[in-house]
Amino acid sequence: MTTAYISEISKYEGQDVTLKGWLYNKRSSGKIKFIILRDGTGLIQAVAVKGEIEDKYFDLIEELTQESSLAVTGTIREDKRSPWGYEMTLKSLEVVHIAEEYPISLKEHGTSFLMDNRHLWLRSEGQRHVLRIRHEIIQSIRQFYYERGFTLIDSPILTPASVEGTSTLFETDYFDGKAYLSQSGQLYLEPAIAAFGKVYCFGPTFRAEKSKTRRHLQEFWMVEPEVAFNDHEDNIKLAEEFVSYIVAWVLEKCGRELDALERDKTKLEKVKAPFGRVTYTDAVERLKKEGIEIEWGDDFGAEHETVIGSWFETPVVIEKYPAKIKPFYMQPDAENPDLVANMDVIAPEGYGEIIGGSQRDHDLERLKKKVIAQGLPLESYEWYLDVRRYGSVPHAGFGLGIERTVAWLSGSKHIRETIPYPRMLYRLYP
Ligand code: 4AD
Repeated sequence: MTTAYISEISKYEGQDVTLKGWLYNKRSSGKIKFIILRDGTGLIQAVAVKGEIEDKYFDLIEELTQESSLAVTGTIREDKRSPWGYEMTLKSLEVVHIAEEYPISLKEHGTSFLMDNRHLWLRSEGQRHVLRIRHEIIQSIRQFYYERGFTLIDSPILTPASVEGTSTLFETDYFDGKAYLSQSGQLYLEPAIAAFGKVYCFGPTFRAEKSKTRRHLQEFWMVEPEVAFNDHEDNIKLAEEFVSYIVAWVLEKCGRELDALERDKTKLEKVKAPFGRVTYTDAVERLKKEGIEIEWGDDFGAEHETVIGSWFETPVVIEKYPAKIKPFYMQPDAENPDLVANMDVIAPEGYGEIIGGSQRDHDLERLKKKVIAQGLPLESYEWYLDVRRYGSVPHAGFGLGIERTVAWLSGSKHIRETIPYPRMLYRLYP
Protein backbone atom coordinates (compact mmCIF):
# COMPACT_ATOMS: atom_id res chain seq x y z
CA MET A 1 0.00 0.00 0.00
CA THR A 2 1.30 3.46 -0.91
CA THR A 3 1.79 5.82 2.01
CA ALA A 4 0.99 9.40 0.99
CA TYR A 5 0.92 12.91 2.41
CA ILE A 6 -2.28 14.94 2.34
CA SER A 7 -0.58 17.81 0.48
CA GLU A 8 -0.07 15.56 -2.56
CA ILE A 9 -3.39 13.77 -2.37
CA SER A 10 -4.65 14.94 -5.79
CA LYS A 11 -2.11 12.58 -7.39
CA TYR A 12 -3.93 9.59 -5.87
CA GLU A 13 -7.48 10.26 -7.04
CA GLY A 14 -9.27 6.91 -7.45
CA GLN A 15 -6.45 4.97 -5.77
CA ASP A 16 -6.08 3.32 -2.37
CA VAL A 17 -3.48 4.90 -0.09
CA THR A 18 -2.48 5.00 3.56
CA LEU A 19 -2.27 8.34 5.39
CA LYS A 20 -0.58 8.68 8.77
CA GLY A 21 -1.37 11.44 11.20
CA TRP A 22 -3.42 12.68 14.14
CA LEU A 23 -7.14 12.91 14.77
CA TYR A 24 -8.16 16.54 14.38
CA ASN A 25 -11.86 15.93 14.90
CA LYS A 26 -14.56 13.34 14.35
CA ARG A 27 -18.33 13.20 14.14
CA SER A 28 -20.96 10.63 13.58
CA SER A 29 -24.44 10.48 12.11
CA GLY A 30 -25.76 7.02 12.78
CA LYS A 31 -24.39 4.69 10.17
CA ILE A 32 -21.74 7.11 8.93
CA LYS A 33 -18.68 8.23 10.84
CA PHE A 34 -16.37 11.03 9.77
CA ILE A 35 -12.75 11.37 10.80
CA ILE A 36 -10.77 14.51 10.12
CA LEU A 37 -7.10 13.64 9.96
CA ARG A 38 -4.16 16.04 9.91
CA ASP A 39 -0.67 14.94 8.98
CA GLY A 40 1.38 18.15 9.14
CA THR A 41 0.82 18.88 5.46
CA GLY A 42 -2.95 19.31 5.46
CA LEU A 43 -6.33 18.08 6.59
CA ILE A 44 -8.62 15.50 5.03
CA GLN A 45 -11.93 13.89 5.90
CA ALA A 46 -12.20 10.10 5.85
CA VAL A 47 -15.70 8.59 5.75
CA ALA A 48 -16.66 5.20 7.18
CA VAL A 49 -20.03 3.68 6.28
CA LYS A 50 -21.39 0.84 8.42
CA GLY A 51 -21.67 -2.31 6.37
CA GLU A 52 -19.14 -1.10 3.81
CA ILE A 53 -16.19 -1.23 6.21
CA GLU A 54 -15.45 -4.16 8.54
CA ASP A 55 -17.26 -3.72 11.88
CA LYS A 56 -14.03 -3.89 13.89
CA TYR A 57 -12.78 -0.75 12.13
CA PHE A 58 -16.11 1.03 12.37
CA ASP A 59 -16.18 0.37 16.12
CA LEU A 60 -12.55 1.43 16.55
CA ILE A 61 -13.44 4.98 15.50
CA GLU A 62 -15.50 5.23 18.69
CA GLU A 63 -12.31 4.87 20.75
CA LEU A 64 -10.38 7.61 19.00
CA THR A 65 -9.79 10.73 21.09
CA GLN A 66 -8.67 14.13 19.79
CA GLU A 67 -4.98 14.00 18.72
CA SER A 68 -4.77 10.18 18.80
CA SER A 69 -2.23 9.04 16.23
CA LEU A 70 -3.36 6.65 13.55
CA ALA A 71 -2.95 5.33 10.02
CA VAL A 72 -5.98 5.27 7.75
CA THR A 73 -6.28 3.37 4.49
CA GLY A 74 -8.90 3.92 1.83
CA THR A 75 -9.81 5.25 -1.60
CA ILE A 76 -9.24 8.90 -2.52
CA ARG A 77 -12.16 10.69 -4.18
CA GLU A 78 -12.46 14.23 -5.43
CA ASP A 79 -15.19 16.05 -3.52
CA LYS A 80 -15.96 19.60 -4.56
CA ARG A 81 -18.09 20.18 -1.44
CA SER A 82 -15.28 19.33 0.93
CA PRO A 83 -13.17 22.31 2.08
CA TRP A 84 -10.09 20.27 1.24
CA GLY A 85 -11.21 19.17 -2.24
CA TYR A 86 -10.75 15.44 -1.61
CA GLU A 87 -12.11 12.80 0.73
CA MET A 88 -11.14 9.28 1.65
CA THR A 89 -13.57 6.37 1.70
CA LEU A 90 -12.20 4.50 4.68
CA LYS A 91 -11.36 0.80 4.32
CA SER A 92 -9.27 0.18 7.41
CA LEU A 93 -7.45 1.97 10.19
CA GLU A 94 -4.70 1.28 12.62
CA VAL A 95 -4.35 3.07 15.95
CA VAL A 96 -0.80 4.05 16.85
CA HIS A 97 -1.64 5.72 20.16
CA ILE A 98 -4.81 6.76 21.93
CA ALA A 99 -4.17 10.28 23.20
CA GLU A 100 -4.93 11.34 26.75
CA GLU A 101 -7.53 14.07 27.08
CA TYR A 102 -6.07 16.87 24.95
CA PRO A 103 -5.85 20.21 26.78
CA ILE A 104 -6.47 22.38 23.70
CA SER A 105 -9.97 21.80 22.46
CA LEU A 106 -11.35 23.32 19.28
CA LYS A 107 -13.01 26.13 21.24
CA GLU A 108 -11.39 29.43 22.31
CA HIS A 109 -8.66 29.52 24.97
CA GLY A 110 -6.86 32.38 26.74
CA THR A 111 -3.41 33.38 25.48
CA SER A 112 -1.62 32.60 28.72
CA PHE A 113 -3.01 29.06 28.70
CA LEU A 114 -2.04 28.63 25.06
CA MET A 115 1.48 29.93 25.72
CA ASP A 116 1.87 27.47 28.62
CA ASN A 117 0.99 24.80 26.08
CA ARG A 118 3.00 26.30 23.24
CA HIS A 119 4.46 22.86 22.40
CA LEU A 120 0.90 21.65 21.70
CA TRP A 121 -0.47 24.91 20.34
CA LEU A 122 2.00 24.51 17.44
CA ARG A 123 -0.38 21.87 16.06
CA SER A 124 -3.23 24.37 15.60
CA GLU A 125 -3.95 25.49 12.05
CA GLY A 126 -3.44 29.23 12.61
CA GLN A 127 -0.10 28.70 14.30
CA ARG A 128 1.03 26.35 11.56
CA HIS A 129 0.21 28.94 8.90
CA VAL A 130 2.27 31.63 10.62
CA LEU A 131 5.24 29.30 11.06
CA ARG A 132 5.01 28.13 7.43
CA ILE A 133 5.25 31.78 6.40
CA ARG A 134 8.29 32.15 8.67
CA HIS A 135 9.84 29.12 7.01
CA GLU A 136 9.33 30.63 3.53
CA ILE A 137 10.68 34.01 4.64
CA ILE A 138 13.87 32.32 5.81
CA GLN A 139 14.15 30.39 2.56
CA SER A 140 13.75 33.62 0.57
CA ILE A 141 16.46 35.32 2.63
CA ARG A 142 18.97 32.55 1.98
CA GLN A 143 18.10 32.60 -1.72
CA PHE A 144 18.37 36.40 -1.99
CA TYR A 145 21.92 36.48 -0.65
CA TYR A 146 22.96 33.34 -2.47
CA GLU A 147 21.82 34.75 -5.83
CA ARG A 148 23.80 37.92 -5.18
CA GLY A 149 27.07 36.22 -4.29
CA PHE A 150 27.11 36.94 -0.55
CA THR A 151 29.05 34.53 1.67
CA LEU A 152 27.43 33.32 4.90
CA ILE A 153 29.57 34.12 7.94
CA ASP A 154 28.21 32.60 11.13
CA SER A 155 28.84 34.96 14.01
CA PRO A 156 29.37 33.69 17.56
CA ILE A 157 26.64 33.66 20.22
CA LEU A 158 29.05 33.96 23.17
CA THR A 159 30.86 37.27 22.89
CA PRO A 160 33.18 39.42 25.01
CA ALA A 161 31.62 42.82 24.21
CA SER A 162 28.42 44.72 23.43
CA VAL A 163 27.24 46.02 20.04
CA GLU A 164 23.96 47.74 20.81
CA GLY A 165 24.70 49.29 24.20
CA THR A 166 25.43 47.62 27.52
CA SER A 167 21.98 47.99 29.07
CA THR A 168 20.48 45.03 27.19
CA LEU A 169 23.29 42.49 27.61
CA PHE A 170 22.58 38.98 28.87
CA GLU A 171 25.61 38.08 30.95
CA THR A 172 26.84 34.59 31.74
CA ASP A 173 29.85 33.07 33.49
CA TYR A 174 32.57 32.01 31.10
CA PHE A 175 35.01 29.93 33.16
CA ASP A 176 36.99 32.56 35.12
CA GLY A 177 35.47 35.49 33.26
CA LYS A 178 32.22 36.79 31.81
CA ALA A 179 30.60 36.41 28.40
CA TYR A 180 27.56 38.06 26.85
CA LEU A 181 24.96 36.60 24.53
CA SER A 182 25.23 38.25 21.12
CA GLN A 183 22.99 41.28 20.49
CA SER A 184 23.99 41.35 16.81
CA GLY A 185 26.56 39.63 14.59
CA GLN A 186 27.59 42.92 12.99
CA LEU A 187 30.99 43.38 14.62
CA TYR A 188 32.04 39.94 13.37
CA LEU A 189 30.79 40.62 9.86
CA GLU A 190 32.76 43.81 9.38
CA PRO A 191 36.17 42.07 9.47
CA ALA A 192 34.82 39.42 7.09
CA ILE A 193 34.09 41.97 4.32
CA ALA A 194 37.84 42.29 3.82
CA ALA A 195 37.95 38.53 3.25
CA PHE A 196 34.80 38.06 1.12
CA GLY A 197 33.51 41.50 0.05
CA LYS A 198 29.79 40.76 0.56
CA VAL A 199 28.77 38.75 3.60
CA TYR A 200 25.77 38.06 5.79
CA CYS A 201 25.02 36.32 9.04
CA PHE A 202 21.77 34.85 10.23
CA GLY A 203 21.14 33.62 13.70
CA PRO A 204 19.53 34.13 17.08
CA THR A 205 20.29 37.36 18.93
CA PHE A 206 19.53 38.32 22.50
CA ARG A 207 18.42 41.47 24.25
CA ALA A 208 17.79 41.69 27.97
CA GLU A 209 15.17 44.34 27.28
CA LYS A 210 12.72 44.89 30.09
CA SER A 211 10.06 45.51 27.44
CA LYS A 212 6.80 43.71 27.50
CA THR A 213 5.30 44.81 24.20
CA ARG A 214 3.79 43.00 21.25
CA ARG A 215 6.97 43.77 19.26
CA HIS A 216 9.73 42.68 21.63
CA LEU A 217 11.27 39.31 22.22
CA GLN A 218 14.27 38.65 24.44
CA GLU A 219 15.56 36.12 21.89
CA PHE A 220 14.93 36.88 18.22
CA TRP A 221 16.48 36.00 14.88
CA MET A 222 18.24 38.56 12.78
CA VAL A 223 19.71 38.48 9.28
CA GLU A 224 22.52 40.97 8.74
CA PRO A 225 24.22 41.77 5.43
CA GLU A 226 27.45 43.79 5.32
CA VAL A 227 29.07 45.05 2.11
CA ALA A 228 32.54 46.51 1.46
CA PHE A 229 32.54 49.85 -0.41
CA ASN A 230 28.77 50.35 0.09
CA ASP A 231 27.74 53.79 1.31
CA HIS A 232 24.52 55.02 2.91
CA GLU A 233 22.59 55.20 -0.39
CA ASP A 234 23.76 51.71 -1.47
CA ASN A 235 22.65 50.43 1.92
CA ILE A 236 19.13 51.82 1.51
CA LYS A 237 18.88 50.37 -2.00
CA LEU A 238 19.92 46.93 -0.78
CA ALA A 239 17.36 47.07 2.04
CA GLU A 240 14.56 48.08 -0.35
CA GLU A 241 15.44 45.36 -2.83
CA PHE A 242 15.70 42.80 -0.03
CA VAL A 243 12.36 43.58 1.61
CA SER A 244 10.58 43.68 -1.78
CA TYR A 245 12.08 40.29 -2.64
CA ILE A 246 10.88 38.69 0.61
CA VAL A 247 7.36 40.07 0.17
CA ALA A 248 7.12 38.89 -3.46
CA TRP A 249 8.34 35.42 -2.40
CA VAL A 250 5.76 35.14 0.37
CA LEU A 251 2.96 36.26 -1.97
CA GLU A 252 4.04 33.63 -4.47
CA LYS A 253 4.58 30.72 -2.06
CA CYS A 254 2.15 31.33 0.79
CA GLY A 255 -1.15 32.26 -0.89
CA ARG A 256 -3.00 29.49 0.93
CA GLU A 257 -1.64 30.47 4.35
CA LEU A 258 -2.25 34.19 3.80
CA ASP A 259 -5.84 33.50 2.74
CA ALA A 260 -6.46 31.21 5.70
CA LEU A 261 -5.12 33.96 8.01
CA GLU A 262 -7.32 36.49 6.18
CA ARG A 263 -4.28 38.64 5.43
CA ASP A 264 -5.10 41.52 3.06
CA LYS A 265 -2.74 40.66 0.20
CA THR A 266 -3.46 43.86 -1.75
CA LYS A 267 -1.52 45.76 0.94
CA LEU A 268 1.50 43.49 0.45
CA GLU A 269 1.30 43.78 -3.33
CA LYS A 270 2.10 47.50 -2.95
CA VAL A 271 5.48 46.77 -1.38
CA LYS A 272 7.92 47.68 -4.13
CA ALA A 273 11.11 49.75 -4.19
CA PRO A 274 11.66 52.65 -3.85
CA PHE A 275 10.07 52.97 -0.41
CA GLY A 276 8.84 56.14 1.24
CA ARG A 277 11.69 58.15 2.69
CA VAL A 278 11.93 60.79 5.39
CA THR A 279 14.80 62.17 7.46
CA TYR A 280 14.65 61.88 11.22
CA THR A 281 14.53 65.68 11.49
CA ASP A 282 11.65 66.07 9.01
CA ALA A 283 9.76 63.24 10.69
CA VAL A 284 10.03 64.98 14.09
CA GLU A 285 8.78 68.25 12.55
CA ARG A 286 5.82 66.57 10.90
CA LEU A 287 4.91 64.60 14.04
CA LYS A 288 4.90 67.85 16.03
CA LYS A 289 2.66 69.50 13.43
CA GLU A 290 0.28 66.58 13.79
CA GLY A 291 0.17 67.31 17.52
CA ILE A 292 2.25 64.34 18.63
CA GLU A 293 4.57 64.81 21.55
CA ILE A 294 8.25 64.51 20.59
CA GLU A 295 11.41 66.63 20.73
CA TRP A 296 14.41 66.56 18.41
CA GLY A 297 16.85 64.13 20.03
CA ASP A 298 14.18 61.72 21.35
CA ASP A 299 14.11 58.21 19.93
CA PHE A 300 10.92 57.14 18.20
CA GLY A 301 8.58 54.88 20.12
CA ALA A 302 6.07 52.41 18.69
CA GLU A 303 3.35 55.07 18.50
CA HIS A 304 5.60 57.46 16.51
CA GLU A 305 6.58 54.65 14.13
CA THR A 306 2.94 53.80 13.54
CA VAL A 307 2.14 57.40 12.58
CA ILE A 308 5.22 57.73 10.35
CA GLY A 309 4.33 54.41 8.73
CA SER A 310 0.85 55.71 7.93
CA TRP A 311 2.28 58.51 5.74
CA PHE A 312 3.15 55.99 3.00
CA GLU A 313 1.67 52.83 1.47
CA THR A 314 5.07 51.15 1.15
CA PRO A 315 7.48 50.67 4.05
CA VAL A 316 9.28 53.88 5.10
CA VAL A 317 13.00 54.53 5.36
CA ILE A 318 13.80 56.98 8.18
CA GLU A 319 17.37 58.22 7.80
CA LYS A 320 19.96 60.35 9.57
CA TYR A 321 19.22 60.16 13.27
CA PRO A 322 21.02 62.23 15.91
CA ALA A 323 24.43 60.67 16.62
CA LYS A 324 23.89 60.94 20.38
CA ILE A 325 21.08 58.35 20.41
CA LYS A 326 22.90 55.82 18.22
CA PRO A 327 25.77 53.34 18.83
CA PHE A 328 29.46 54.23 18.39
CA TYR A 329 30.03 52.45 15.08
CA MET A 330 27.90 54.63 12.78
CA GLN A 331 29.44 56.92 10.13
CA PRO A 332 28.79 60.62 10.74
CA ASP A 333 26.61 62.29 8.12
CA ALA A 334 28.73 64.06 5.48
CA GLU A 335 26.86 67.38 5.90
CA ASN A 336 26.06 67.46 9.60
CA PRO A 337 28.32 65.65 12.10
CA ASP A 338 25.55 65.71 14.72
CA LEU A 339 23.73 63.18 12.55
CA VAL A 340 24.68 59.67 11.44
CA ALA A 341 24.38 57.95 8.04
CA ASN A 342 21.89 55.41 9.35
CA MET A 343 18.45 54.18 8.41
CA ASP A 344 15.56 52.32 9.94
CA VAL A 345 12.88 50.70 7.82
CA ILE A 346 9.36 50.86 9.25
CA ALA A 347 6.79 48.36 8.03
CA PRO A 348 3.37 49.71 7.07
CA GLU A 349 0.09 49.02 8.92
CA GLY A 350 1.62 49.63 12.35
CA TYR A 351 4.02 46.66 12.40
CA GLY A 352 6.94 48.88 13.42
CA GLU A 353 10.65 48.84 12.74
CA ILE A 354 11.85 45.81 10.83
CA ILE A 355 15.35 47.01 9.83
CA GLY A 356 18.07 49.00 11.54
CA GLY A 357 21.35 49.71 9.80
CA SER A 358 24.01 52.23 8.83
CA GLN A 359 27.15 53.04 6.99
CA ARG A 360 30.00 52.22 9.41
CA ASP A 361 32.60 54.64 10.62
CA HIS A 362 35.83 53.59 8.89
CA ASP A 363 38.07 56.20 10.50
CA LEU A 364 40.25 54.60 13.19
CA GLU A 365 40.93 57.61 15.42
CA ARG A 366 37.34 58.89 15.39
CA LEU A 367 35.98 55.43 16.13
CA LYS A 368 38.38 54.93 19.08
CA LYS A 369 37.22 58.23 20.58
CA LYS A 370 33.57 57.16 20.27
CA VAL A 371 34.20 53.79 21.91
CA ILE A 372 35.77 55.59 24.88
CA ALA A 373 33.11 58.33 24.93
CA GLN A 374 30.35 55.69 25.14
CA GLY A 375 32.11 54.23 28.18
CA LEU A 376 33.08 50.97 26.49
CA PRO A 377 36.36 49.13 27.29
CA LEU A 378 38.66 49.87 24.32
CA GLU A 379 40.68 46.67 24.85
CA SER A 380 37.59 44.53 24.08
CA TYR A 381 37.30 46.20 20.65
CA GLU A 382 40.96 46.16 19.49
CA TRP A 383 40.29 43.26 17.12
CA TYR A 384 37.29 45.16 15.66
CA LEU A 385 39.39 48.30 15.19
CA ASP A 386 41.82 46.25 13.10
CA VAL A 387 39.27 46.50 10.25
CA ARG A 388 40.27 50.20 10.20
CA ARG A 389 44.02 49.49 10.48
CA TYR A 390 44.56 47.16 7.53
CA GLY A 391 42.94 48.47 4.37
CA SER A 392 39.99 50.42 5.81
CA VAL A 393 37.12 50.98 3.35
CA PRO A 394 33.70 52.59 3.50
CA HIS A 395 31.17 49.87 4.23
CA ALA A 396 27.57 49.50 5.29
CA GLY A 397 25.04 46.96 6.45
CA PHE A 398 21.85 46.41 8.38
CA GLY A 399 19.88 43.90 10.40
CA LEU A 400 16.35 42.69 9.65
CA GLY A 401 14.38 41.17 12.51
CA ILE A 402 12.72 37.95 11.37
CA GLU A 403 9.87 37.86 13.84
CA ARG A 404 8.72 41.42 13.15
CA THR A 405 8.82 40.62 9.45
CA VAL A 406 6.77 37.46 10.01
CA ALA A 407 4.28 39.43 12.12
CA TRP A 408 3.87 42.01 9.37
CA LEU A 409 3.53 39.59 6.46
CA SER A 410 1.26 37.12 8.26
CA GLY A 411 -0.77 39.90 9.89
CA SER A 412 -0.06 38.58 13.43
CA LYS A 413 -1.01 41.04 16.10
CA HIS A 414 1.61 39.78 18.55
CA ILE A 415 5.22 38.80 17.92
CA ARG A 416 4.97 35.79 20.29
CA GLU A 417 3.21 33.74 17.59
CA THR A 418 5.92 34.31 14.97
CA ILE A 419 8.59 32.08 16.54
CA PRO A 420 8.09 28.46 17.59
CA TYR A 421 9.16 28.97 21.22
CA PRO A 422 9.13 32.64 22.24
CA ARG A 423 11.41 33.93 24.98
CA MET A 424 9.79 36.90 26.67
CA LEU A 425 10.16 38.99 29.80
CA TYR A 426 7.95 36.66 31.83
CA ARG A 427 8.25 33.49 29.78
CA LEU A 428 10.95 30.86 29.59
CA TYR A 429 8.58 27.86 29.64
CA PRO A 430 8.21 25.58 27.77
O1 4AD B 1 18.17 48.17 15.10
P1 4AD B 1 18.90 46.98 15.67
O2 4AD B 1 19.22 47.01 17.13
O3 4AD B 1 20.23 46.87 14.80
C1 4AD B 1 21.32 46.12 15.07
O4 4AD B 1 21.41 45.25 15.90
C2 4AD B 1 22.45 46.34 14.10
N1 4AD B 1 23.70 45.95 14.74
C3 4AD B 1 22.18 45.54 12.86
C4 4AD B 1 23.21 45.76 11.78
O5 4AD B 1 23.39 46.90 11.37
N2 4AD B 1 23.87 44.72 11.34
O6 4AD B 1 18.09 45.67 15.36
C5 4AD B 1 17.79 45.31 14.02
C6 4AD B 1 16.38 44.75 13.93
C7 4AD B 1 15.27 45.71 14.30
O7 4AD B 1 14.94 46.56 13.24
C8 4AD B 1 14.14 44.76 14.64
O8 4AD B 1 13.53 44.29 13.45
C9 4AD B 1 14.88 43.62 15.28
O9 4AD B 1 16.22 43.67 14.83
N3 4AD B 1 14.82 43.71 16.74
C10 4AD B 1 13.98 42.99 17.51
N4 4AD B 1 13.04 42.10 17.21
C11 4AD B 1 12.34 41.53 18.22
N5 4AD B 1 12.56 41.80 19.51
C12 4AD B 1 13.50 42.71 19.89
N6 4AD B 1 13.72 42.94 21.18
C13 4AD B 1 14.26 43.35 18.85
N7 4AD B 1 15.27 44.25 18.84
C14 4AD B 1 15.59 44.46 17.56
